[in-house]
Amino acid sequence: MAKIAVIGVGYVGLTTAVGLANLGHEVVGIDVDAEKINKLKNGTSPIFEKDLEKFLKIEIDKKSIKFSTNYEDTKTCDSIFLCLPTPQLSDGSADISYVIDAVKKLKDYLKPNSNLIIKSTVPVNTAKKIIDLIQDNSISVVSNPEFLREGNALADFFKPDRIVIGAQNQKAKEEVAKLYSSIDSEIIFTDNISAEIIKYASNSYLAIRLSFVNELAAYAENIGADATQILNAMGKDKRIGQHFLKPGPGWGGMCFPKDVNEFKSSAENMDQPIELLNAALLSNAKAHARIVNKAKKLLGNNLDNKNITVWGLAFKANTDDTRFSPAVSVVQLLIKEGCNLKAFDPVVKKVEELSMKIENSIEASIENSDLLIVLTEWDEFSKINPKSISAKFRQKNIIDSRNILDKKLWQDAGFNFLGNGS
Ligand code: UGA
Repeated sequence: MAKIAVIGVGYVGLTTAVGLANLGHEVVGIDVDAEKINKLKNGTSPIFEKDLEKFLKIEIDKKSIKFSTNYEDTKTCDSIFLCLPTPQLSDGSADISYVIDAVKKLKDYLKPNSNLIIKSTVPVNTAKKIIDLIQDNSISVVSNPEFLREGNALADFFKPDRIVIGAQNQKAKEEVAKLYSSIDSEIIFTDNISAEIIKYASNSYLAIRLSFVNELAAYAENIGADATQILNAMGKDKRIGQHFLKPGPGWGGMCFPKDVNEFKSSAENMDQPIELLNAALLSNAKAHARIVNKAKKLLGNNLDNKNITVWGLAFKANTDDTRFSPAVSVVQLLIKEGCNLKAFDPVVKKVEELSMKIENSIEASIENSDLLIVLTEWDEFSKINPKSISAKFRQKNIIDSRNILDKKLWQDAGFNFLGNGS
């Protein structure tokens, strides 16, 4: 059992803190946001994440986790995890100021021979900057990137595909590996810089792959082929695999766009551009615009005053996160076209960037609608019987950007149906 502090209890930090407590460690979660800390002390998770609140309550009852706003509470800890945000700056690079500020605050409390573990996604050479900042050779700075998917974060914590541990010395690598010893996973030991790059390269590779999938779907659709069948056959090749082959309205969320941009700007700054990153970003913007073009295909070139309904605002299903959501980008493009928009999402009830009202029910969202666009792959959308709601529409048109609906069922209910890739 180790004494651990987790600095920053957002979605990565809270999942990490609760996960480590469940592995048998004594954890303190620290955050500057007093309101968030109060909620957590009462067993309420500030984020919508499967099973997280349930596990949080269990660990609070076991007294294996506590929460505080006071950095001094880290002073007895052997391992300190940094889980601060690294948002995107206007030039595309990642802002590490929250991480650096936290290290400055921690400096006075770091126990000799402890490990300072960077879990935040940080640009190359951040570990080195932190080593220079703390100026204490007894403290090891370890790069241990997270690979947690929102909506699946706890499951990913307990069953990771790999655990990456990068550090300058073997002792620190082994000590951090020991924290995870009850997890059955391959551990990859490396240096700090390689660990930092593994995170950017993984997210960027997946984003590039999805951009290819989305462009392939558009191409197949144009030529009269079926992208679902093409992708299924491609995925049977073990070198390709079936994961991350689903076309959509573009990829988004707090990680892919930010990480692709940071990786791109880092490569360009050293005069070693990775051209595919730029192509993936351009392709993603085209994926949003393609949905608007499809709407025009169904309703004519002038969308002014057309009643359009969107289902789904979250960047993917099983999360309430709308940051860099492709659904929000598509809505913004449709607003520019002058449409009257209504939206429904099972969990999202407000989006900062959108002034529009979000309807409380599926029925209210489709009242008098000329076109329904499905933008997030929520399960409940695929369970709807189109015949039971079709009378509410003014015109029966539907675009299924995620291919989650039964095309025949909707066509039988009288809808003009456009999927993605066929
Ligand atoms: C991503 C990575 O998958 C995690 O490994 C990583 O730890 C995390 O970023 C992070 O850096 O913190 P996440 O942003 O939660 O996780 O979302 P994903 O499940 O990867 O989905 C990203 C986007 O790709 C979503 O918009 C999703 O709808 C889209 N997507 C995914 C598709 O359009 N098609 C697919 O087949 C899969």
